[in-house]
Amino acid sequence: MELLDGRKVSNQIKDEIAVAVAKMKANGEKVPHLAAVIVGNDGASLTYVGSKVKACERVGFESTMVRLPGTTSETELLKKIHELNEDDAIDGFIIQLPLPPQINSQKVLMAVHPDKDVDGFHPTNFGKMALDMSTFIPATPFGILELLERYKVDTQGKHTVVIGRSHIVGRPMSILMGRKGWPGNSTVTLTHSHTKNLAEITAEADIIISALGVPNFVKADMVKDGVVIIDVGITRVPDESRERGYRICGDVDFEDVSKKASFITPVPGGVGPMTIAMLLKNTLLARERHRF
Ligand code: GUN
Repeated sequence: MELLDGRKVSNQIKDEIAVAVAKMKANGEKVPHLAAVIVGNDGASLTYVGSKVKACERVGFESTMVRLPGTTSETELLKKIHELNEDDAIDGFIIQLPLPPQINSQKVLMAVHPDKDVDGFHPTNFGKMALDMSTFIPATPFGILELLERYKVDTQGKHTVVIGRSHIVGRPMSILMGRKGWPGNSTVTLTHSHTKNLAEITAEADIIISALGVPNFVKADMVKDGVVIIDVGITRVPDESRERGYRICGDVDFEDVSKKASFITPVPGGVGPMTIAMLLKNTLLARERHRF
């Protein structure tokens, strides 16, 4: 069994990005600038956005965190998005999800200019991704592709089973794994809450990508020997023995499943750090496009 070490690979990617930024600086060019909008005080969201800002500092990007109160109206948020669309100093920006209930997320994500949509959530960018056109690929699926590539995991002709059909992970992942080329050329099954006989389907899988958010859902008796496991779950489980009062738990019962797997991502330290590295990569891409 080989560990797909997202922490190590994400550090390599950040180092590569830092080199590119240093070159931009040496040439007197403007460095990439990412903005992140967060509405309300959700603890997990604040942590994620904090990590994104810290990662920007590490590679030499500029960053702006826009904090809006939880009572912000949809109109106010749309106004802020229009400002960021028009602001030439900002190369790309994200709206941290989830948003409070008074705001229609779909409407908000559609207001982000596709050229600044470094999360790849705008329908234009999602459509381009499905059509194999150059675009921003959502950071978590992009990070998974990068992990598969750097560890030279064979995906061609393999049966990939994706668990969960979220717009952020499961759905785009199912499209990307079926695209032409590598990593891709997989035969994909997208499973969800209405899937019957899930354990029989996962038992046939060469590659399982689980993005469900249910701790320890995938058990050893649901997978075959030699399976490749990508665990996207990052659920906070109460744990009094930890100083912060919780621990992060993946979708996969790592202890038992890892004994059967050929490759597996740990949680934490697998997919999570890759997401941030790929957001930086998309922001660098946005800057490079923005120059012309
Ligand atoms: N919430 C959970 N994951 C993400 C993500 O990748 N981007 C944004 N903007 N919000 C999220």
